[in-house]
Amino acid sequence: MSLSGAHNDRGEVKVRDSLDDLSTELADYIAELSEASVKERGVFAIALSGGSLVSLMGKLCEAPYNKTVDWSKWYIFWADERVVAKNHTDSNYKLAKDGLLSKVPIVPSHVHSINDSVSAEEAADEYEFAIRQLVKTRVVSVSDNSDCPKFDLILLGMGPDGHVASLFPNHSVLNEKDEWVTFITDSPKPPPERITFTLPVINSASNVAVVVTGDSKAEAVHLAIDDVGPDCPSLPARMVQPNGKLVWFLDKPAASKLDHPQQS
Ligand code: 6PG
Repeated sequence: MSLSGAHNDRGEVKVRDSLDDLSTELADYIAELSEASVKERGVFAIALSGGSLVSLMGKLCEAPYNKTVDWSKWYIFWADERVVAKNHTDSNYKLAKDGLLSKVPIVPSHVHSINDSVSAEEAADEYEFAIRQLVKTRVVSVSDNSDCPKFDLILLGMGPDGHVASLFPNHSVLNEKDEWVTFITDSPKPPPERITFTLPVINSASNVAVVVTGDSKAEAVHLAIDDVGPDCPSLPARMVQPNGKLVWFLDKPAASKLDHPQQS
């Protein structure tokens, strides 16, 4: 059984029985957004994260998506990246390259990864500068409410602690209002040095999808989505409140602590 529907003001929640169904739903969703964005703007600017997300996107490399998606119009970014060499096993770029980008005809110059040969601070600055150039040429759209970039889609995973991108609970980067891309050198999840989109950038996107699987995330999913009252801890995932559309992709174990899992 597949369930999906609106859930409070916390976005649409899609719960799928199996990882296979969830992957198909995710591929359909991304393919539809790509088509709509290419039709409207001529390009599709998508930001990826690391973790299990990339393997859950694997169906995009298979029929029909590998043939129907207009890959030549895709521009790839990372919502967060570990500051390690691109061929390092911890690299989110390597994960996406091996699992997706090498299997579909993306234009190499459209892949915007970080400079891995400088410090985390410099890498964040350079990445923001690169995005600023692409906003000027409207490869990346601009927010209606601020000067922030408006990505067509930002894809996020979520940790059991409720972190998204490299925005960890109680970390000062959660308060960053001015930078588009910032850095941390004390990530509680290794490796310690990372760059990350800030909340204003995530929340300026046209679409944000948070893809979460497994029962170790069930409590964080509940705290991020349900109406948990004024004492609700300020989970990074709960601070994802985009101007655009928010969709949660959950498997049943991740959705098991939702107040109304059967309705979502
Ligand atoms: C990172 C990831 C991270 C990830 C979550 C969920 O660079 O560490 O971007 O934010 O998305 O930790 O990862 P899993 O889906 O593998 O649990």
